[in-house]
Amino acid sequence: MNPTFDRDAFFARALITTDISELDEDQRWSTWPDTAHTLDRGPQPFPDWVVQHDGAIDTELGILKTGKEADAFLLERALPTEHRTGAPGEEVLLVAKRYRAPERASFHRSHDYAEGRRGTDTREARAIAKGTAFGRQAAAGQWARTEFDVLGRLWSAGLPVPYPVQLQATELLMEFIGTDDEHGTAAAPRLQGTTLGPAAAERFARRLREFVLGMAELGLVHGDLSPYNVLVDTRPAEPDPVVIDVPQVVDLIANPHGIRFLQRDCENLCTWLRAQGASKTAADSAEWAAAAQALATCR
Ligand SMILES: Nc1ncnc2c1ncn2[C@@H]1O[C@H](COP(=O)(O)OP(=O)(O)O)[C@@H](O)[C@H]1O
Ligand SMILES: [Mg+2]
Repeated sequence: MNPTFDRDAFFARALITTDISELDEDQRWSTWPDTAHTLDRGPQPFPDWVVQHDGAIDTELGILKTGKEADAFLLERALPTEHRTGAPGEEVLLVAKRYRAPERASFHRSHDYAEGRRGTDTREARAIAKGTAFGRQAAAGQWARTEFDVLGRLWSAGLPVPYPVQLQATELLMEFIGTDDEHGTAAAPRLQGTTLGPAAAERFARRLREFVLGMAELGLVHGDLSPYNVLVDTRPAEPDPVVIDVPQVVDLIANPHGIRFLQRDCENLCTWLRAQGASKTAADSAEWAAAAQALATCR
């Protein structure tokens, strides 16, 4: 698809570029205009905080976490200070999750999850199977694409996940869950390592059960749901769970391991929640899994 030439955007950027002599090493022009294909942008309507200006600049703020298949970075996307008016959509913090093309071709969680997934590009499939450099790049791109698409589906269904802003090859940009105020910038802590207390644990149990059931209604299982992949969002008055890390999501019914993954997800969460003081009735993994399965099968 050939994006049409946007005169206004062109001159807006030209205006800004004239007074910026050079970008710093840790900066680039916003890559938003390069993702003109709607499939590479998040669900519409775009939230008002999404920075869409062509003249915005991306600045690397540092690494959040390195992982096996991907690294998460903090990124600021903003208009130069002198061009801001204070309106939404002029500056925002984003998380850039960048998938790596690993030396070894196999992603540790590849096989079981990819079963039943449809691939259309046979050249890619062959290259991935062979583990060529192109194949490794393609595999990384597929994980990024899957995570991006799944986040969009979950977000559109009203489930608590970060809003996926855009996808470009192996880089996924999403909403930053955390706080950014006079005390500084802090990413939301993971559930693992957090102490909730019984009342909050009970509430988290209800919210996370809703999440598992909400996914089941879409016919999906997270597949790697644990206290490591749940963030504690402290922006609302009462903290809420936000679920991340969804590239391995599987179809609950079509994937032969779907039910097993579902049970494991529920056990991981319920065990932790009970240790935090949630009641047996609220954090009952067998009940969660049965309720989820019932929803998925009557779709
Ligand atoms: N949207 C986000 N907002 C804030 N922190 C995030 C976000 N996404 C990821 N992180 C941080 O980066 C870490 C790694 O991200 P994750 O998607 O779980 O990748 P991995 O595959 O490495 O586990 C998370 O544990 C969390 O601390
Ligand atoms: Mg993770």
